[in-house]
Amino acid sequence: MRRGLAPQRRAELLLHAMTLAEKIALLHGVQPIPVKGYVGYVPGNARLGIPALRLADGRAGVGNGARQATLLPAPLSAASSWDPSLLYAYGRVLGQEEWEKGTNVFLGPTVDVVRVPEWGRTFETYGEDPYFNGRMAAAEIRGVESAGPIADANMYLTMHQETNRFKANSVVDERTLEEIYLPPFRAAVRAGKVGTLMCAYVKTNGIYSCENPLLLQTFLRRQLGFRGWVMSDWGATHSTAASARAGLDQEMPGSRYYGAALQRAVETGAVTMAEVNAHVLDILRVMFRQGLFDRRQSGNWMAKVDTAADAHFALRAAEAGMVLLKNQGAALPLAATGAIAIIGADAGRQPVVEGGGSSYVIPPYVVSPLAGIRSRAGAGRKLVYADGGNLQAAARAARGAQVAVVFAGAPESEGADRPNLRLPGNQDALIAAVAAANPNTVVVLNTGGPVLMPWLGRVRAVLEAWYPGQEDGRAIAAVLFGDRNPEGRLTLSFPRTENGVPTASRRQWPGIAGNSYYSEKLEAGYRWYEAQKRKPLFPFGYGLSYTTFKLSRFRLRRRPGTMRLTARVSVANTGRRAGSEVVEAYCRQPASNGEPGRQLCGFAKVRLRPGETKTARLAINPRAFMVYDAARHGWKSPAGRYRVEVGTSSQALPFAAAVTAPRPGGRPRG
Ligand code: BGC
Repeated sequence: MRRGLAPQRRAELLLHAMTLAEKIALLHGVQPIPVKGYVGYVPGNARLGIPALRLADGRAGVGNGARQATLLPAPLSAASSWDPSLLYAYGRVLGQEEWEKGTNVFLGPTVDVVRVPEWGRTFETYGEDPYFNGRMAAAEIRGVESAGPIADANMYLTMHQETNRFKANSVVDERTLEEIYLPPFRAAVRAGKVGTLMCAYVKTNGIYSCENPLLLQTFLRRQLGFRGWVMSDWGATHSTAASARAGLDQEMPGSRYYGAALQRAVETGAVTMAEVNAHVLDILRVMFRQGLFDRRQSGNWMAKVDTAADAHFALRAAEAGMVLLKNQGAALPLAATGAIAIIGADAGRQPVVEGGGSSYVIPPYVVSPLAGIRSRAGAGRKLVYADGGNLQAAARAARGAQVAVVFAGAPESEGADRPNLRLPGNQDALIAAVAAANPNTVVVLNTGGPVLMPWLGRVRAVLEAWYPGQEDGRAIAAVLFGDRNPEGRLTLSFPRTENGVPTASRRQWPGIAGNSYYSEKLEAGYRWYEAQKRKPLFPFGYGLSYTTFKLSRFRLRRRPGTMRLTARVSVANTGRRAGSEVVEAYCRQPASNGEPGRQLCGFAKVRLRPGETKTARLAINPRAFMVYDAARHGWKSPAGRYRVEVGTSSQALPFAAAVTAPRPGGRPRG
């Protein structure tokens, strides 16, 4: 209990006082959970003063059936703000509410790169780019851990589909793992200083994640220098000795492999005491570091934790995540007068505000779009509503109105992938029918990932509102009426067709005979579109605003003798509303490196009043110019000419500059 000592030292001292049974008790959860709430529980040890671990889900709020907790917008929505400071605040709100519920291990964030656009947990993560996800992960984790709980980066490492998720095997080469799927976890560990990591259900190259030495030893401990603990996903442990050897510290949620079986394995020598000690130290070190031994946690599961301040944040975050995809003839913001037809079940009785599965939050309330628009429009404004069940009735409602706003939702849940990329049910037909009845039709989408838009050419405007959480209708109304200027940008590509995606073959997804082949290799997300010379419907990084921006004076500087660069661009707000622009930098390697084309390597968001000009400053890390060499199992920095392209989406990059990387020992030029 000597606070002055380093966490490692305190953990060692405590370890020396522990019996084998006490050590093993720390290495698994117990079931049923003896207290109310939570989804994982490790009892405390009164003799030694070790606090209990109470683990709860929470990607967008406290999960596991908790009441009176805030439902924030989905992580994909928050990430679409392209604003790490918002993700930090998001993590802080989540962490605080969990802490007040008594949680000290927060099961989130999900940081995996979206490989398959139909993935049922797309809404739970940040998007399709490794660097981007890493920036968001680090920010959110720091927010969570600043509020009390230990965060848990998941799901490590090739969790990219729900179909057959307990057994699926990802067949993937080492370079792709290193360059595309590992980076968000690298950032979670290095920049986020995350305390725990969750190994996933799936296998990687034939070996389950939680007993995979390449994942747990080589990548995590040796390369990333991870000093926290690895817990298994719920039921993802499949062995005792193989897991303990490979580096799994803790089995969740029970003790099938790490209880009596581990005790026996130690007795027979299949697992050594040194291995057990190392696992115990991994856990205790983080508990000490996070202050779990020093701070009293008074919260409990029944506490009301949803404050007015958190509801306000939920509203601001939902607004900031919305992406304006189309706005022909400035259809939005809505005109000040005239009747509004609101159409769709998603606007009224069945608003799609969050995803399903372990991240599900019981919302304290939901403001439906209908309610949000009604309250914003005021009593004097004529509103008509049709639930969309009957196309003729919907068309009739639309026909008489100045504007028709159709709401369409695509539910998504852990446990199943979406069967395809279409809006479910009759929604495509509904939008087409409404657009035929009223040329001034606006579509608002509540989806957890990309959808196809066969009606796109027939509608005036499209607003992607994602899963907005409890403030759904209020946030959407604020953007529709122009109280808030849309500032989100896509963090994943929207394809034109079902097959126009990087993982279109059955071999790739959902796999054949249990194997999902990552044959697209490095061409994940927008990288694939460029390589295939295909235009997505809407590209990665894209989003419109109600104001206009002008970029100028692009400058690229490098720190002498390094490949550490800074790009600067002046951004002017040339319109009449305050707004935010996201400046994005993409790096391109010389062809001889065998890399995909442009890859995101920096971004910065600037807020501007009308007429204002600011400089966006984008830091570009030397890693953007490195390549993984699978033959030598290491990273290298090949000499050659690299390019940095800067603009406002992966397909609008008006500025470029070349940089020459030197041979090792030489001096960089350019
Ligand atoms: C999910 C995890 C979750 C756990 C506990 C699993 O099915 O994959 O993300 O944390 O359940 O609810």
